[in-house]
Amino acid sequence: MSSNDGSPMKKLGILAAALLIPVIGYAVVTMFPNSSNQGYAPEQPIPFSHKLHAGQYKMACLYCHGSAEKSAHAGVPSLNVCMNCHKVVKTDSPWIKQITQAYNEGRPIEWVRIHELPDHAHFVHSRHITAGVSCQTCHGPIQEMDRVSQVSPLNMGWCMSCHRGQTTPSNVLRAYHPDLKDPRGHQVASVNCTTCHY
Ligand code: HEC
Ligand code: HEC
Ligand code: HEC
Ligand code: HEC
Ligand code: HEC
Repeated sequence: MSSNDGSPMKKLGILAAALLIPVIGYAVVTMFPNSSNQGYAPEQPIPFSHKLHAGQYKMACLYCHGSAEKSAHAGVPSLNVCMNCHKVVKTDSPWIKQITQAYNEGRPIEWVRIHELPDHAHFVHSRHITAGVSCQTCHGPIQEMDRVSQVSPLNMGWCMSCHRGQTTPSNVLRAYHPDLKDPRGHQVASVNCTTCHY
C-alpha cells in the first residue's frame, strides 16, 4: 500500500502539467494572434481569371473595383459588369452559361472572401488610393494570377511599417516629404491606435 501512496498524486501532477502546457500555449497564442492568412488562395465557384481579364486583356482594376477609389471597400463587381461582355463573349462556355443563368435569376455568385481583417481593425481603401499607393503594393501582381492569393500578411506590423515610412513606396514617401533628401523612415500616416481601432 505505502509504496503506491505517492503514485496517484504524482500521476495527477503529471496529468495536470500535461493538460496545463497546451492550455498555457493556447492562451499565449491567442493573446498574440497572427491573424495573417498570407498565402490563402481558395478555389472560387467560377474560375474567374485576373491573369486573363486584367493581364492579357488589360482591363483596369477600377473597372470592376471602382468603389476602392471612393469608399472603405473595394468590393467585388456584380454580374451586370460581367454581362457587359459576356452577353456576347464566349457564351458557349459552361462557366459563362452559369453566370448568365445566375444573372437572369437575379442571384449573386458566392465568391469566397480572401482578404479580411478582424472586426476590431479598420481599413479604408480610398485614403490609400488617393495617397498614391498602388493596388499591387498591397495585393501583389494580381494581373498575373489565375486564382487570387493573399500575398501580404495584413498584420499590424505590416500596416505600421508603411505608415512609419519604413516599407513605404518611394512615390508616396516623396509626396509626403518633398523637402527631405532621404525621406525613408519618416512617417507618412498616423500610427495612433484609434486610427485603426475603434
Ligand atoms: C473583370 C472584372 C475584374 C477586374 C478587371 C479586376 N478584378 Fe479583381 N476581382 C474580380 C472578381 C469577380 C473577384 C472575386 C473572385 C476572385 O477572387 O477571383 C475579384 C477579386 C479580387 C481580389 C480578392 C478579393 C478578396 O476576396 O479578398 C483582389 C485583391 C482583386 N480582385 C484585385 C484586383 C486588382 C488589383 C485588379 C487590377 C490588376 C483587379 N482586381 C481587376 C473582378 C475583377
Ligand atoms: C471587357 C470584357 C469582359 C468583362 C467585363 C468580363 N469578361 Fe470574362 N472574358 C472576356 C474575354 C475576352 C474572355 C476570353 C474569351 C475567350 O477565351 O475567347 C473572357 C473569359 C472569361 C471566362 C473563361 C470562360 C471559359 O470557359 O474559357 C470566365 C469564367 C469569365 N470570363 C468570367 C467573367 C466574370 C465572372 C466577369 C465579371 C466579374 C467577367 N468575366 C467580365 C471578357 C470580359
Ligand atoms: C494599403 C494596402 C491596400 C491597397 C493599396 C489596396 N488594398 Fe485592397 N485590401 C487591403 C486590405 C487590408 C483588405 C482587407 C480589408 C478589410 O477586411 O476590411 C483589402 C481588401 C480588398 C478586396 C476585398 C473586398 C473588400 O472591399 O474588402 C478587394 C476586391 C481589394 N482589396 C481590391 C483592391 C484594389 C482593386 C486596389 C487598387 C485600386 C486595392 N485593393 C488597393 C489592402 C489594400
Ligand atoms: C504601403 C503603405 C501602406 C500600408 C501597407 C498601409 N497603409 Fe494605411 N495609409 C497609408 C498612407 C500613405 C495613408 C494616407 C494618409 C493620408 O490620408 O494622408 C494611409 C492612411 C490610412 C488610414 C486613414 C488615416 C486617417 O488619418 O484617417 C487608415 C485608417 C489606415 N491607413 C489604415 C491602414 C491599415 C489598417 C493598414 C493595414 C491593414 C494599412 N493602413 C496599411 C499607407 C499605408
Ligand atoms: C495602421 C493601423 C494600425 C494601428 C495604427 C494600430 N493597429 Fe493594432 N492592429 C492593426 C491590424 C490590421 C490588426 C489585426 C491584424 C493582426 O492581428 O496583426 C491589429 C491588431 C491589434 C491587436 C491584436 C488584437 C487581437 O486580436 O488580440 C492589438 C492588441 C492591437 N492591434 C493594439 C494596438 C495598439 C495598442 C495600437 C496603438 C499603439 C495599435 N494597435 C495601432 C492595425 C493597427
